[in-house]
Amino acid sequence: MSQRKFFVTTALPYANGNFHIGHIMEYIQADIWVRFQRMQGHAVDFVGADDAHGAPIMIAAEKAGKTPQQFVADIAAGRKPYLDGFHIAFDNWHSTDAPENHVLAQQIYLDLKAAGLIETRTIEQFFDPDKNMFLPDRFIKGECPRCHTKDQYGDNCESCGAVYAPTELIQPYSALSGAKPVLKQSEHFFFKLSDPRCVSFLEQWTQDGQHVQPEVANKVKEWFTVRTNPDGSTSEGLGDWDISRDAPYFGIEIPDAPGKYFYVWLDAPVGYLASLKNLLDKRGEDYEAYMADPSLEQYHFIGKDIVTFHTLFWPAMLKFSGRKTPDRICVHGFLTVNNGEKMSKSRGTGLDPLKYLGLGMNPEWLRYYLAAKLNGRNEDIDFNAEDFLARVNSDLVGKYVNIASRAAGFLSKRFGGKLGAISADGLQLVSHLTAQKDTLARLYDSRDYARAIREAMACADLVNVYVDANKPWELAKQEGQDERLQDVCSTCIEAFRLLTIYLKPVLPQLAAQVEAFLQVEPMTFADVDDLLGAGHAIGTYKHLIQRVEDKQLDALLAPPEPVPAAAAESAEPPGGEALAETITIDDFAKVDLRIARIVACAPVEGSTKLLRLTLDAGEGRTRNVFSGIASAYKPEDLQGKLTVLVANLAPRKMKFGISEGMVLAASHADEKQQPGIYVLEPWPGAQPGMRIH
Ligand code: MSP
Ligand code: ZN
Repeated sequence: MSQRKFFVTTALPYANGNFHIGHIMEYIQADIWVRFQRMQGHAVDFVGADDAHGAPIMIAAEKAGKTPQQFVADIAAGRKPYLDGFHIAFDNWHSTDAPENHVLAQQIYLDLKAAGLIETRTIEQFFDPDKNMFLPDRFIKGECPRCHTKDQYGDNCESCGAVYAPTELIQPYSALSGAKPVLKQSEHFFFKLSDPRCVSFLEQWTQDGQHVQPEVANKVKEWFTVRTNPDGSTSEGLGDWDISRDAPYFGIEIPDAPGKYFYVWLDAPVGYLASLKNLLDKRGEDYEAYMADPSLEQYHFIGKDIVTFHTLFWPAMLKFSGRKTPDRICVHGFLTVNNGEKMSKSRGTGLDPLKYLGLGMNPEWLRYYLAAKLNGRNEDIDFNAEDFLARVNSDLVGKYVNIASRAAGFLSKRFGGKLGAISADGLQLVSHLTAQKDTLARLYDSRDYARAIREAMACADLVNVYVDANKPWELAKQEGQDERLQDVCSTCIEAFRLLTIYLKPVLPQLAAQVEAFLQVEPMTFADVDDLLGAGHAIGTYKHLIQRVEDKQLDALLAPPEPVPAAAAESAEPPGGEALAETITIDDFAKVDLRIARIVACAPVEGSTKLLRLTLDAGEGRTRNVFSGIASAYKPEDLQGKLTVLVANLAPRKMKFGISEGMVLAASHADEKQQPGIYVLEPWPGAQPGMRIH
């Protein structure tokens, strides 16, 4: 078989939250496929990236008091423990806000423009006069025009399910500022998907049986005849695609169009190419040459909710900008947890991937379980705790791993770890397993891991039947049965090695442990035909994998500690302002805080805000400090009290004199919302001059 060359991606997750179990499922599905192709000797580059742009991320960043760049960088910094933890072997992880993506997205756009596929049109949209920005549908709320439920989103009603345009809402308001939005005209850029060139290319591309699963092709087919408009009405055929957004927007600027940005979905899939280019640059390889290789196969793993983007917009963008089009879009369904509980796209479910790892649960249990359920079609799959326990404990451990533990001990104790000759019945069993190689390979290649696992477990069943028929534990007690005992145990080890190869794409870590135990090089499918053979010495068997315990699953799925309802509902940051950037203890140590006694306190003539404090911080002299607390305290309230002084603040010259430090006081960020200033006072016993650590 000649070597194939693959470029593989998974969907780029929005950088507005940590991974949830649905993301991990997608990565595991793709990772199994990638590992399988590598075991076949093929070359694979497997990349991902954060999807950084768009209005929701911009707004979330603002709420968090961060720049969007800082906000997405903080999310990106948390990715590694998930990927490493579940043995997901991306070759690169990048960001759609990276320079490569800016350049590539703009180039693609310019090429589409040169091809005559970009058009501008003036549209009317809701505009928030307070925030000075156009409002995405999700950020306009109002009363449903159909059922009159209040506070519904701009695109559809959660109560009656009606679909409408934001302009149809009764008494619309901006979800950002509460202001009444006004209609305002703006020039938008459109990608002319309705152009006959696009339509005929896409019909061919999606319906030729080569690029998507049949169930996906059927769905896509409908879009060529009817489409649903934002107001719920329908039109014929593919509509043009609005690819621009107005400033302020976190995204990539449209060339020669000041104040206009690409809509996030324009530059998001370009991020696949940007991540690849970044990888190739790091390796010193040429991106253009790589992409020009006619043998290159480009695979995208995605969920069923983003099919339109990947089967219409993305292939058309690539085709008509003169670039390589994808070879396959592999669409999976959604993961639900304990039946159906619909998983929120942003919040995920009760199954938190990091909690799973934190509980010491083996990542390969989850890989095995998901593999046993993923059949390559776009059906939803359910994580069910009992099913998980049964499959891991009875199948993975009980049927497969046990084969090794049943045979290895006798070989080490009685035969110096050496395999012996195998007789006819053993050879028959082993060659039955060997003969499954092509079936297993075909199943992995077509992403029907569920059947691959079933075939492997059917093989494991046969091996267990053989073990039970030959009872090595009895042979071990019988006189003159040494040779047969070694024969039976050697058969088991050969069979175990084959099963391990068949499961290796799913269980990379376990396979590595087995390779160490068997004292063999990393195994591929090509190794199936070469048995270890008589005389091969194996190492000592160490327990390979634990069973799942009930209590682990209970802990995993237990609801998180309840957050007080008031806190959970208020989107407001504590005290009205977001936490400041993290600092180190060394940063903190730079601030010298001391206990000080307010020996005198007086109003400041000419100021309604300030009080003049005379402080004793144990220095053998007093300090003069102005403090903006006159609205909250009368001078006599403070005289004689202890407080906290920032003692190493550079002195500041003010209109009324020099201020030699600052006293600490608490207040809400928005004085109007929550008035009040509270000076800090230490517990009794503290003495002037003491440092606060
Ligand atoms: N940012 C876009 C994708 C851009 S691709 C150029 C996006 N991000 S997402 O974070 O919402 O979803 C990322 C992937 O996770 C998608 O393929 C999506 O289908 C998948 N999943 C999200 N929830 C899921 C489940 N509950 N189950 C399985 N996959 C799910 O969409
Ligand atoms: Zn309604």
